[in-house]
Amino acid sequence: MPIYHKLGKIPHKRHTQFEKPNGGLYYEQLFGTIGFDGMSSLSYHVHRPTQVKEIGKAVDMSPKIAVEKNITSRKLIGFDVQPKDDFLEAREPLLVNNDVHIGLAAPKKSITDYFYKNADADEMLFIHKGSGTLKTFLGNIPFEYGDYLIIPRGMIYQIEFDTEDNRILYAESFHPIYTPKRYRNWFGQLLEHSPYCERDYKLPQDLQTFDEKGAFLMKIKKQGMLHQLVYATHPFDVVGWDGYNFPYGFSIHNFEPITGRVHQPPPVHQTFETSAFVVCSFCPRLYDYHPKAIPAPYNHSNIDSDEVLYYVDGDFMSRTGIGPGYISLHPAGIPHGPHPGTYEVSIGKKGTEELAVMIDTFKPLMVTENALKIDDGKYYKSWLE
Ligand SMILES: [Fe+2]
Repeated sequence: MPIYHKLGKIPHKRHTQFEKPNGGLYYEQLFGTIGFDGMSSLSYHVHRPTQVKEIGKAVDMSPKIAVEKNITSRKLIGFDVQPKDDFLEAREPLLVNNDVHIGLAAPKKSITDYFYKNADADEMLFIHKGSGTLKTFLGNIPFEYGDYLIIPRGMIYQIEFDTEDNRILYAESFHPIYTPKRYRNWFGQLLEHSPYCERDYKLPQDLQTFDEKGAFLMKIKKQGMLHQLVYATHPFDVVGWDGYNFPYGFSIHNFEPITGRVHQPPPVHQTFETSAFVVCSFCPRLYDYHPKAIPAPYNHSNIDSDEVLYYVDGDFMSRTGIGPGYISLHPAGIPHGPHPGTYEVSIGKKGTEELAVMIDTFKPLMVTENALKIDDGKYYKSWLE
């Protein structure tokens, strides 16, 4: 997160004695990335953050691959993913490679009896249905429909849902998730032509400090395994922190679309970047205004990237037979484009209410067993006239 943020109490000078009111010292932790070269935060804990009591049995969470080498365009019926109580068990990885695991989840229950961190991957949670609070050791972030939650690897968190009706598109990214570099200046500030700015971020707030000893279960995802460690102190025991490494939220509804006289290419919708994939937001917007403009996209060969579109809301103008919660996969190697009829029908239209999230990966995606269960199986023929 390329802006500075701080919460709670911190000492005037880093790496110096920070005394507790009743004697003793707070314990400082440097939470860094990319060795000591990336973004980092300094947090101050009531107890040592290192007190592991027990290590339990690890559970294998690796995706089960059904199609390793795929050239089939697919349509997945996302709302057919069945709701499950537990936040982690509800996750169904659908399209995966060594850079990112993309999946859907319909968790019913909040996390109350354990803490979670993903040690390998930055997580992006896109909230399609539901609301609540992301509770982390660096503060809380209230979320609602349309929010992206970006949780850098290693952040300890719980999630609290307001109801049992929740739908989440998630990406576990093995590369850091950043805002697009071309929208940032040399210092990291978002530029005037960026489709959003720092004011739109939902930063952690309401830091709560729990000074508790006992047995605290932490589930840690690492190398495809879910490890279960018991800590002797409450993981949310931070009295203050500052720095650049922290989770944040951003609402898709605050993405300001970039439009033009003729059809604009997908990069204008880009919201986040990594070294291995991009995330784009297709938001309600005015269509192209050249008198001869064709609002529907041209056919395109994304020869070197797989394209995953998650349909959130509205009428997706270039597709037929698509509803909320559907995913389309257009694999690299073959062209795709508007469905028959949509090209012509789009002419003269003034705007669209479509809302969708696109993830374009630079390496091919494998299709999991979970994905095949919700695959309509005939989408690849949907362009036939
Ligand atoms: Fe496309």
